[in-house]
Amino acid sequence: MRPFHYRATEAISFVLNRIQKVIIKVLDLVILSWLAIYYVSEALILTVTPTFLRKQKDLRGKIILLTGGAGGVGQELAIRLVRQKAIVVIWDNNEKALEKVQEKIESQGHKVHTYPVDISDRANVYKYADIVKSDVGPVDIILNNAGIVCGQTFLEIPDHMIEKTFKVNILSHYWTIKAFLPHMIKTGKGHIVTVGSLTGLLGTYKCTDYSASKHATIGLHESLLIELKTHGHHNIKMTLVCPYFINTGMFAGCKPRNLKMLEPKEVAKRIITAIKNEEVYVTIPTFSRFFLPIKNFIPAKLAWAFIYRIIQGPQSMMGMRNFEEVEAA
Ligand SMILES: NC(=O)c1ccc[n+]([C@@H]2O[C@H](COP(=O)([O-])OP(=O)(O)OC[C@H]3O[C@@H](n4cnc5c(N)ncnc54)[C@H](O)[C@@H]3O)[C@@H](O)[C@H]2O)c1
Repeated sequence: MRPFHYRATEAISFVLNRIQKVIIKVLDLVILSWLAIYYVSEALILTVTPTFLRKQKDLRGKIILLTGGAGGVGQELAIRLVRQKAIVVIWDNNEKALEKVQEKIESQGHKVHTYPVDISDRANVYKYADIVKSDVGPVDIILNNAGIVCGQTFLEIPDHMIEKTFKVNILSHYWTIKAFLPHMIKTGKGHIVTVGSLTGLLGTYKCTDYSASKHATIGLHESLLIELKTHGHHNIKMTLVCPYFINTGMFAGCKPRNLKMLEPKEVAKRIITAIKNEEVYVTIPTFSRFFLPIKNFIPAKLAWAFIYRIIQGPQSMMGMRNFEEVEAA
């Protein structure tokens, strides 16, 4: 048995250790309470402050890579961003639409860089990333906007289309970010913007592929944000925007029961405000960010009753046209 004074020293150091841990916990709690008051007040003040009174990111001269910029929301984003004197680079696999958007933007007296890129192909993304770096320069803002949906129930979706949805809606984000993040880390600044969806917060009918891929955008956004902050890259900003249905044709045939579809213009406008304000998490409409998580706090049977009887999600999605019908139209 060890001598008494050894055991006494051990006991004292154990108690001191415990006291030290308690003090650290109390200090953490005090700091956290202070931060909670500060950040909640800041968020409330910013919410009621009119946009023109807020300090916003200046987009002039910023190189913005926009995927899916020839389509509905993407086109509206491109038009608005060039008006703000940003240098916009559009990647889209629809060459005809790409030509049209270029003509439209140039007819308004602005310049735009367009590339026919299929973002579901990793090698293609890396190849065009190098081309953009040498043709235009290092990208300041990545705007991962392109997306697709199949519009079929689970067993109807062809396997290759499930893979395609994931390749376009989420895997491509890994390739675009991997291509341009190293430069952002080197210069200590940049911005990664992800267009998710409210279906990334609440699954719905005919959306097993789409909704799952949009849930994944949230996981990528949140985890990468934490990694960047942990490594001290506080000036590389991240924004996730989750909109409700938008009237672009992507959800053609859907008939939402309670809320009108959003217009692509208003969504593009809100995304740009979110970029300029460096907002981290945006839902359109705003109230849905508080409303949808209620599903986590109520019984699952009640959540289903709510979805079926009040939101009428499945009923509104029944008429949704599938990707073949949309392509043929
Ligand atoms: N439309 C909606 O109701 C809705 C709702 C919530 C979120 N969103 C999301 O908003 C974003 C924009 O949607 P939208 O309604 O403008 O869609 P859209 O179909 O009008 O436009 C999408 C664009 O992405 C391009 N694209 C598709 N696959 C591509 C690929 N492999 N490579 C390169 N480009 C490709 C298309 O050519 C098209 O120009 C998407 O991420 C979508 O998931 C849409």
